[in-house]
Amino acid sequence: ERSLLGLKNLSASEISSILDRAAYWDDKEDKVIPILKNHFVANMFFENSTRTRFSFEMAEKRLGAEVLNFTAAASSVEKGESIYDTVRTLESMGIDAGVIRLKPIGMLEGLAEKISVPLVNAGDGNNEHPTQALLDLYTMKRHFGELKGLKVSIIGDIKHSRVARSNLWALQKFGAEVKLCAPENMQAPELAAYAPYVSMDEALCVDVVMMLRVQLERHEGSIFKSPEEYRLHYGLTEERAAKLAPHAIIMHPAPVNRNVEIDDALVEHPQSRIFKQMENGVPIRMAVMERALL
Ligand code: CP
Repeated sequence: ERSLLGLKNLSASEISSILDRAAYWDDKEDKVIPILKNHFVANMFFENSTRTRFSFEMAEKRLGAEVLNFTAAASSVEKGESIYDTVRTLESMGIDAGVIRLKPIGMLEGLAEKISVPLVNAGDGNNEHPTQALLDLYTMKRHFGELKGLKVSIIGDIKHSRVARSNLWALQKFGAEVKLCAPENMQAPELAAYAPYVSMDEALCVDVVMMLRVQLERHEGSIFKSPEEYRLHYGLTEERAAKLAPHAIIMHPAPVNRNVEIDDALVEHPQSRIFKQMENGVPIRMAVMERALL
């Protein structure tokens, strides 16, 4: 299987081979190693992105691929063209693979069945964001040496988070111990069967705190009272961070709402790996695109 739609159905050995290959690319000094020369890749973002879009483009260009960038706002989607018709259009022009980010939940799998080129999920509603979780696992593995037995808390807007889901599925395959922490109206009750919801105090007693962005764009109604109130109860404040074990690391997929889910001073704190995560996104996406195309 060359497509990468999610991590839930990917085996630990398949995930490991992507992580190992990312380490191979990470250790290379050469900027461009054109093994994907003459391969055309379309980056199709139907939802906004900075990190994922540019690190896919960086990864594809480092491997010498021909890159077509599609953003919905500058396309015929604005005239009402459907996502399916847009992807079919690019496929008919001869792309060899597509990277795709979608807002509608539950559309990606059906779309991939109708498209003959490999598709790579760059963020699928609140369902999965597999390359984000791969780069998160890679960051933890490089830091701690192994994932087995690692204690990880995922804290924040879990209900709307594809990052939480992909990380939960993947971390558990490697024997990591995952805890969840969220205000009641941002919990995903179906995930309680896989990992316990704990208090904020308990969530801090871990090796990794993974803070999540409050995703206002996915909220229905006003479930978010105020940034101050959220920070008070669920934010990683400087005071809470001082309770973390000295070896613990702070992660966040970003973009960050500074002083809401995480204090400004913690974003570039010595225990933070937030910019390291972004850096690691490039070798991970090199490994994923190589897998999709070769
Ligand atoms: N972490 C992440 O997916 O960021 P972008 O939305 O900027 O791609």
